[in-house]
Amino acid sequence: MKTIGVLTSGGDAPGMNAAIRAVVRTACENGMKVYGINRGYQGLIDDDLVELNIRSVSDIIHRGGTMLYSARCLAFKEEEGMQKAIETCKKHGIEGIVVIGGDGSFRGARDLSLRGIPCIGIPGTIDNDIVSSDYTIGYDTCLNTIMDMVDRIRDTVESHSRCFVVEVMGNRCGDLTLNSGIAVGATAIVIPEIQSDIEKHVIERIRRTQKTDKKHFIIMVAEGVGGVADLAKKIQEECGVETRSTVLGHVQRGGSPTARDRVMASQMGYYAVKLLMQGIGNRVVVMKDDKIVDYDIYEALTMTKEVDTTLYQIAHEISI
Ligand code: F6P
Repeated sequence: MKTIGVLTSGGDAPGMNAAIRAVVRTACENGMKVYGINRGYQGLIDDDLVELNIRSVSDIIHRGGTMLYSARCLAFKEEEGMQKAIETCKKHGIEGIVVIGGDGSFRGARDLSLRGIPCIGIPGTIDNDIVSSDYTIGYDTCLNTIMDMVDRIRDTVESHSRCFVVEVMGNRCGDLTLNSGIAVGATAIVIPEIQSDIEKHVIERIRRTQKTDKKHFIIMVAEGVGGVADLAKKIQEECGVETRSTVLGHVQRGGSPTARDRVMASQMGYYAVKLLMQGIGNRVVVMKDDKIVDYDIYEALTMTKEVDTTLYQIAHEISI
């Protein structure tokens, strides 16, 4: 391949810039021309492209967000949108595309590959919810951001002998909530993958802990479960402890990527271009058992991911 494109799609994640940088530099070093496609698949439909060189991606490795902007593009799910995207590729001689995003973005990459534009997916989302990969770019940064914010909440929770119910991002996946819950020493963790009996797993736990003279509590709830205000009210009424709720929100998605995210993004970006250089498309580059490997996109999308029940059990036993 002589010319490739790179785009970021779906919710932005810290480390996406590091991945773009790796894609652009690897391609340029190997004599390829690279187009940055703005705003994900929408940019491909609108022919919103910018040619990138090794210097275009200087000073971005430490930045959150994505220099190529991102979008969730509904028009790309229609055949008309898809055909416009293909026309854009033909116009600029784009022979392959690296797509940095989540499972939704990979579906687009699969559809484009099936229509003759080989694509490689790189997992980029804070949620760690990509079924084929043990790790997604942005997850570690986000986890550390949550930990930092809840540590701050703990200062005030402790000072006022209160309970705080904290909502963490992750619609279908509780990895952020479970892992940050352990990292901040939460009294209870509520995630979508594990059916929680609020009475038993939250109220009774707080009561039991109160008997051991503990006066402040942090309860972590995944976005996909929701209802933090109602839960706070219930805790206050049933446990007699003043309770507040907070939704951490989009602040979790920003910030400078951690070393782990920068290194992972660099490795995956490099790997993706090496596949395209061999003329290989319709693959996703993922982390499996601490190794970077690639899978067929279709196969990757049909995989399933289990929640770490051992980790949940550990949290349950030690956070009393
Ligand atoms: O995919 C990342 C994520 O931040 C999820 O955790 C959350 O459910 C969603 O995106 C929020 O999307 P939006 O930015 O469109 O509100």
